[in-house]
Amino acid sequence: GKDKELIRGSWESLGKNKVPHGVIMFSRLFELDPALLSLFHYSTNCGSTQDCLSSPEFLDHVTKVMLVIDAAVSHLDDLHSLEDFLLNLGRKHQAVGVNTQSFAVVGESLLYMLQCSLGQAYTAALRQAWLNMYSIVVAAMSRGWAK
Ligand code: HEM
Repeated sequence: GKDKELIRGSWESLGKNKVPHGVIMFSRLFELDPALLSLFHYSTNCGSTQDCLSSPEFLDHVTKVMLVIDAAVSHLDDLHSLEDFLLNLGRKHQAVGVNTQSFAVVGESLLYMLQCSLGQAYTAALRQAWLNMYSIVVAAMSRGWAK
């Protein structure tokens, strides 16, 4: 439907290299919740948030996050096929001390990045389409916290 077209089209328009967009997203995330920075054990080697975000370990995580979003965009027609993967990904994030409440801030940062990167193409319909997909991803990851 329309949502899927909006998501696919906008994701493609960001270009092949998604890492710079991921850096915008995580800069925003650490601005909104600086405490999240300390969950990355390697963050202690950084002087500032900007130093962190340009370190290889951080860029590695940003790359991984962008790959997961890319997988979700590629599987819009069968997102449930990612459920086991996302549940396990949730478990790993529980293990490193992430709280499910933080996903709201992550979502806000994702939307912020899309707004920055898409400019005029960032519309209310597009925002809602991304929110819908993001909430499915978050719901699947959150199952990793269930006892
Ligand atoms: C791994 C933190 C959000 C995808 C990790 C690791 C940490 C971490 C500390 C382990 C070290 C590393 O691989 O760098 C966080 C924090 C987040 C966050 C604090 C925000 C609150 C996300 C999101 C995604 C994601 C939204 C994707 C949708 C991954 C992947 C791995 C990972 C794919 C590798 C898992 C593996 O080793 O199999 N994350 N993460 N992260 N993260 Fe995140």
